[in-house]
Amino acid sequence: MDINEAAKRIEEIRAKLNDANYRYYVLDAPTITDSDYDRLMQELKKLEDQFPSLLTSNSPTQRVGATPAAAFGVIEHRYPLLSLGNAFTDEDLLAWYKRTLKLAGRPFDMVCEHKIDGLAVALVYIDGKLDTGATRGDGLRGENITQNLRTIRSIPLELPKDAPPRMEVRGEVYLTKSGFHKLNEERSRQELSLFANPRNAAAGSVRQLDARITATRPLDIYVYSLGWSEGKTMPSTHWDTMQYLKSIGFRTNPHSRRVETIEEARAYYHEWLEKIETMNYEADGVVVKCNPFDIQVQLGDIGREPRWAIAYKFPAIQAITRLLDITISVGRTGTLNPVAVLEPVAVGGVTVKQAAMHNEDDIRRKDIRIGDYVLIQRAGEVIPEIIAPIVERRKGNEKPFDMAEKVYDPSLGRPACPVCKSEVFRPEGEVMYYCSNAACKAQVRGRIEHFCSRGAMDIRGVGEMQSAALLDRGLIQDAADLYYLTRESLMTLDRMGEKSATNLINAINNSKERPLSSLIYALGIRHIGGENARLLTAKFKSMDSLSKATKEELMTMEGIGP
Ligand code: IVH
Repeated sequence: MDINEAAKRIEEIRAKLNDANYRYYVLDAPTITDSDYDRLMQELKKLEDQFPSLLTSNSPTQRVGATPAAAFGVIEHRYPLLSLGNAFTDEDLLAWYKRTLKLAGRPFDMVCEHKIDGLAVALVYIDGKLDTGATRGDGLRGENITQNLRTIRSIPLELPKDAPPRMEVRGEVYLTKSGFHKLNEERSRQELSLFANPRNAAAGSVRQLDARITATRPLDIYVYSLGWSEGKTMPSTHWDTMQYLKSIGFRTNPHSRRVETIEEARAYYHEWLEKIETMNYEADGVVVKCNPFDIQVQLGDIGREPRWAIAYKFPAIQAITRLLDITISVGRTGTLNPVAVLEPVAVGGVTVKQAAMHNEDDIRRKDIRIGDYVLIQRAGEVIPEIIAPIVERRKGNEKPFDMAEKVYDPSLGRPACPVCKSEVFRPEGEVMYYCSNAACKAQVRGRIEHFCSRGAMDIRGVGEMQSAALLDRGLIQDAADLYYLTRESLMTLDRMGEKSATNLINAINNSKERPLSSLIYALGIRHIGGENARLLTAKFKSMDSLSKATKEELMTMEGIGP
């Protein structure tokens, strides 16, 4: 192949890969298989190795991360990146609207969006190519993190021919909650300090001097405005601009909504206050923006905040309280999980009495002691966690936590599972202790609760209490036994009337309609979460063929090692 042929083929592959990326990461509608994608990528890499003069910084091969930068350069923003005024109550929101209406002098529609808790970036495109990407910095000057942003698959490196010749697009880079947990688990295995929340983890990842590290972090972006553009007429409203940005390759949030009245904006906030936890990102409120640009221009800014937008924040999710004790609960996989017993405290509208603690090492690393005042956070999760001790409030009688001591059973003369008294062990290189008895009541109960949970077989009514009661009465011994339960046998349980028993039997029958991926997930196999269960289902199609799968077949799947 000569260089001209290579150039042609390279362009062809890059277009294909860019299109595949867009369909996969932005539209969520993949059109080519992972293996076709990999094959094209390999071919492109080989050609670029062979003809180094044809390698460009915007090639899809460069998403793996460039070599370390000594330090980030500074980028001056053409227009400052502003922050937002806050509303905390419906009254605040209404007051903002009334003020704005008065200044605007005529009614206007609005756009409601999630306020994602990540970090703001500005992406400049010149002649359809990503030129620079910068952090917000102080709003006027940010850090040049172009190399790192290139590793984020949902940021287009090239735009279609008809895109504005020069433009700046702004958005929020964030780490998914699942990505955040995975990252922290990995760091905990490597005995590294843990990130306090997805926002810190995203900021830490994006500001890595070594872009190859950034490339391994599951970062994503939602674009939320056009900074500026030249050389092409743009739509006259925010909503239409967002539709346009989507059409030329940017990832926009599908949950944004255009509304005509402030009542609808208020309803949007309350709707999402209820279900924001179901999202795979953390959002700390909703943003309400005036839709017509002429009104935005007319209203202008005050200080560093635009008058034409407001952030209606979700209630605070941090609080300080006392750590009374650390007890142990046994998880469905046998892990001995330390659980914080807290002096009850109100956090964002709910009373918190317990908090999750990752493991003994993490408790030591954060230097959390029994008796400490601690900062707790409901970080989008149902179970709150302890962020840090308040060291200044120590009296001197606080006690460090020691797992081996905690589970030591004097009558047996050894550490023992607090539930079944079996031996406990800590595998080489792991941070968790395990109960060695798979028949341990706590493990069995946990497996049943998991089997019935929402993402699994979705059998409502079998939570912690009911699974314990069913086991204690000997009505079931494992999840399969649920399908042999009768209304009559159920009614022998305390507080189980005819109606509840009928409902439960119906829920069990309905669970037979759940998709295969939910059933695979429900089995609670270690390392098979929702995502892997879906991948297994897509590949094997039936439980029969999955049960016949060989180790080699399984290992061809992404994310599944020996
Ligand atoms: S609009 C001039 N829209 O919130 C308006 N910002 O407090 C400012 N943010 O720095 C940007 N989601 O990082 C806007 N849908 C959204 C947002 C959003 C998150 C962040 C952004 C900004 C901060 C302002």
